[in-house]
Amino acid sequence: MKNYLHISDLGNLQDAVKEAIALKQNPYQFKELGKQKTICLLFFNNSLRTRLSTQKAGMNLGLDVMVMNFGSEGWQLEYEDGTVMNQGKSEHIKEAAQVVSQYADIVAIRAFAGLIDKEKDEAEIVLKGFEKYASIPVVNMESSVGHPLQALADAITLEEHKTVKKPKIVLSWAPHPKSLPHAVANSFIEMMKLQDAEFVITHPEGYELNPEITKDCKIVYDQEKALENANFVYVKNWSSYSNYGKVLSEDKNWMMTKKKLGDAKFMHCLPVRRNVVVEDAVLDSNQSLVIEQANNRTYSAQLALKRILEKL
Ligand code: CP
Repeated sequence: MKNYLHISDLGNLQDAVKEAIALKQNPYQFKELGKQKTICLLFFNNSLRTRLSTQKAGMNLGLDVMVMNFGSEGWQLEYEDGTVMNQGKSEHIKEAAQVVSQYADIVAIRAFAGLIDKEKDEAEIVLKGFEKYASIPVVNMESSVGHPLQALADAITLEEHKTVKKPKIVLSWAPHPKSLPHAVANSFIEMMKLQDAEFVITHPEGYELNPEITKDCKIVYDQEKALENANFVYVKNWSSYSNYGKVLSEDKNWMMTKKKLGDAKFMHCLPVRRNVVVEDAVLDSNQSLVIEQANNRTYSAQLALKRILEKL
């Protein structure tokens, strides 16, 4: 694998999940693979899980890990070609990506959507800029439209907890006071399309995701109906896609409760706002898989890095 930018880069998802579960059982068996190699993690946005789990995954593989909060500590980057750089931006992505390539063997990038300009967000200028100008492999640690490391961790968690061959899995929108990106939901849907499962998406009208991503997915606007007989409920907020980046509703009736969850397992990528997105009784119950999901972030990243290192 050259880069890990999208869940499809893994090839067969089931094989990747099996390989990640094997890594989890014996995390240090490939410690020699990363010896005398360096990964550089560049954060243009905040993180807890991605930062620590990717760092841990790198260390498990014997990599040296450098971390930089680029958003607050790096020079402001210019991405346009041919710009006269006489305003606030000090460095061009062309130099920045090539310079990082001198210090590291792999670069991983987190750069969220701005949620103001859809076209700009969908161009993924930061991730694609590094892909274009870096001479080393690039890993997506959540871009403006996708979070494939989270999606692989979620696939691992589903595999570990499913009790029927073809589970019913529901992706349910939840209220949130802030405008949040679509990346986690997008990658979860793309991953679900590769699963043998009954998959349903539920959200209020106006919260339809990118139709190119939800194409062929079942969308049910009645949350109660969507949740019937669910084995797993994956809860996530996202802002409107059609009315780009806007918060159209904070309807508390969409919050996940123990009553609505029934016997299903609860999933969320975290961080989560308690008693806004989901009530305490769910998160504090043994139906919640959120800590297992966070743990699996390490093995998701480790699988991606292992596959990249094997091709270096
Ligand atoms: N789920 C996730 O990516 O968490 P962080 O934003 O804390 O990295």
